[in-house]
Amino acid sequence: MKDKILVIGSMNYDIITKVPHMPERGETLPADSVSVRSGGKGANQAVQAAKLGKKVVMYGKVGTDAQGKYLLETISSYKVNVDNVEKAQEITGLGLVNALPDGSVFATIAHGANYEITPEDISRHEELFYDAEYLILQMEIPQKAIEKSIELAAKNGVKVVFNTAPSEKIEESYLEKCSLLIMNEVEAQAFCGFEIKNVQDAESAALSLNRKYETGIIITLGEKGSVICEEEKLTCLTPERVEAVETTGAGDSYVGAVTSELMDGKSLIEACEFANRCSALTVMKVGAQDSMPTKEEVDKFFIKK
Ligand code: RIB
Repeated sequence: MKDKILVIGSMNYDIITKVPHMPERGETLPADSVSVRSGGKGANQAVQAAKLGKKVVMYGKVGTDAQGKYLLETISSYKVNVDNVEKAQEITGLGLVNALPDGSVFATIAHGANYEITPEDISRHEELFYDAEYLILQMEIPQKAIEKSIELAAKNGVKVVFNTAPSEKIEESYLEKCSLLIMNEVEAQAFCGFEIKNVQDAESAALSLNRKYETGIIITLGEKGSVICEEEKLTCLTPERVEAVETTGAGDSYVGAVTSELMDGKSLIEACEFANRCSALTVMKVGAQDSMPTKEEVDKFFIKK
């Protein structure tokens, strides 16, 4: 029975510093506070889907260091199955996040072990595709591994939700094999070839990508909301208004939640509305995985509101 979500992607050890402003060139800027968290787009999306009650299996690589051990412990505490995650020679991937007082973040990642995932590793784990209904992918692992994952998903009848973040080059034939592409406006620009300055530009981009790849398209626009295009029909959703504390993982919460809702048989628009609520709650606390809500937390907060 196809009853689980497979996530193939990155696992990072996030170091989040709260800073009053971004440092100038040559400046040593003391942070107001620091915290370390389990992160990485792949792991974050896996945790959000698991928190929403889905059976989630993760494949990725961490180093043999203490950070890798910490990530495996944390992610499995959220009931994501990490039995297939492997150890690599490289150090565990890192996320270095500067969070500004308004909650916005400037992040750098070091791929580390995430970039040791090979197409052969993916083929060796083909059995993970057999009982998966959805595969979630992002672009923090090597392109060849992503391509092999999409090939095996197509071969095994698994629907692919591809979060094209951070934006990297990929052959267009692979995008056509996905059922849903989720990207922000910066990533969308790389695919559609024109600048996205407002919602109208995002609509044009979503429509052209939907026609080109014949897959559902979601372009997220931060506080301007999101544009969804399915079978050439455009919908714009406004975001939930909440007080942002720190936005790391908001996009990942959205991806995990959309997939989870689609698995429950919801329409794409219903799934996006629910995902908006999940990412709104995620930005109200520091860190990615810890701040992601359960279904009960979403209902409680938004019914109360
Ligand atoms: O999307 C947020 C994530 O991006 C962080 O957890 C960081 O590790 C980077 O992968």
